[in-house]
Amino acid sequence: MTSTLAPTPPMGWNSWNTFGLEINEDVVIETARAMVDTGLRDAGYEYVVIDDCWQARARDASDRLIADPDAFPSGMEKLGNVIHDLGMKFGIYSCVGTRTCANRPGSYGFERIDAQTFASWGVDYLKHDCCYKPVDIAARTLYMRMGQALRETGRPIVYSLCNWGSHDLENWAPHTGAHLWRMGPDIKDSWASIEPIAFEMQDRRELYAGPGRWNDPDMLVVGMQNRGHVADGGCSRAEYRTHLAMWCMLAAPLMIGCDVRSLDEYSRALLMNPRLIEINQDPLGVQAFRLGRDEARGEVWARPLRDGGVAVAMVNRHDTEKRIVNFAWESMGIEPSLRCRVVNAWNDRVEQTARSLTVSVGPHDCEVFIVTPST
Ligand code: GLA
Repeated sequence: MTSTLAPTPPMGWNSWNTFGLEINEDVVIETARAMVDTGLRDAGYEYVVIDDCWQARARDASDRLIADPDAFPSGMEKLGNVIHDLGMKFGIYSCVGTRTCANRPGSYGFERIDAQTFASWGVDYLKHDCCYKPVDIAARTLYMRMGQALRETGRPIVYSLCNWGSHDLENWAPHTGAHLWRMGPDIKDSWASIEPIAFEMQDRRELYAGPGRWNDPDMLVVGMQNRGHVADGGCSRAEYRTHLAMWCMLAAPLMIGCDVRSLDEYSRALLMNPRLIEINQDPLGVQAFRLGRDEARGEVWARPLRDGGVAVAMVNRHDTEKRIVNFAWESMGIEPSLRCRVVNAWNDRVEQTARSLTVSVGPHDCEVFIVTPST
């Protein structure tokens, strides 16, 4: 199913990784403002998504979802207006089951009412979770129900399916109208969590991705520095670099998960790296695949780009030692004698080189290049 919504992976912020159950309207508004002030909005991070726990514990007398009166006293429509007035888009969360994962009311049996409610509030993005799903109904059926209900509203709403990669997801997710779908468990702020998601879970899933349909390896932990709900020891600078680089290579949605209000300068510059964003948002929409791997944990991932270039990530998954990693033009079908223009994504250095590229990469680190055959 093609779609004009999400022609490139959605970019934005989601409340869950840092705030978990403790989200409120002040935090959301301050975050939205901080996204403008830091330049993140102008770099492309446009969705402000409020995850679980925005809802009151029960529906109103007309069965409509309402905002938690303590945490969101102004209501969701007003909050949506503030986000829109700042030039961003408004995202919200619900669940296919009777309750959400954090035990607020779910959308089961209320899909049409909820879709209409969200549309009336000006919602632009729905993350739809999979907790408390009645056992006798297929996840596919329930995701189709909400997908249909969203389409019936007539409002363009990006539909983000979150069932952790279960129920043979890749065979049916695109048919529900979803624009992105989670491929695995909740990410945590540690290399132990990131590594399997980036290098194993997404491997060979590239066939399912393309404009309007993206594999979702979960939100980013860049900038979290071991603070907030998914803190798990934190990551080194090299690990945050590799995390973001792989998400960009994998055409993953880029949903920032840290507290943007106190973003450090290193993380801000990393999240706004123009080469990485260019790779992530490349309109051809091809997800990177593993091109090569050696016993010593050096890996090459490649992603063809629309203008004839190739984005290449050369990664060292070893815990302590440096690795020499090589990328040969020939492995991507580029004539070996051709001199290619090679741009280093970390420092924008440009070289003209023939045949191949060889780099030395530190533990858990990566080098990223855009390699373009000269014409
Ligand atoms: C699930 C999802 C998370 C988050 C929580 C909210 O665990 O996978 O991303 O949305 O629910 O309760």
